[in-house]
Amino acid sequence: MSVRLAHIGIAVRSIVDARVFYEEVLGLSVESVEEIESEGVKVALLPFPGGEIELLEPLADDTPVGRFLEKHGEGLHHLSFEVPDVHRSIVAGFEHGVETVGEAPRKGAGGRDIAFFHPLFTHGVLVEVCGAAVEGARHNNPDGDG
Ligand code: CO
Repeated sequence: MSVRLAHIGIAVRSIVDARVFYEEVLGLSVESVEEIESEGVKVALLPFPGGEIELLEPLADDTPVGRFLEKHGEGLHHLSFEVPDVHRSIVAGFEHGVETVGEAPRKGAGGRDIAFFHPLFTHGVLVEVCGAAVEGARHNNPDGDG
């Protein structure tokens, strides 16, 4: 298994507002909406062949995505790459002085192991690495009302 782009994370103020562009103009569909309390974020996934758009709406101002919006406004928040071994990537990061953000690894959307590498060490973009999706772990709730 090789590395592939898993998703493009975009910080938005409102998933309800933001999904209109991605659905009506790009023709994508929201496959799931999931609240991840531990990250303080609501996540909408819109798959396309070869990847997904991940719309990130903060659950409160005092959360990582809430602070990102305050500082940068809406926009590209992170790139996520699926890697064969998240733990190996974290160790390789440590060996090269690349610091992670928060606990690494931890559980992300769909029950995957994830880790984030700080933009200071990745030439300006927050980079997420994730393991393979856990079968059946993803919620199927396109309306996001639960
Ligand atoms: Co992500």
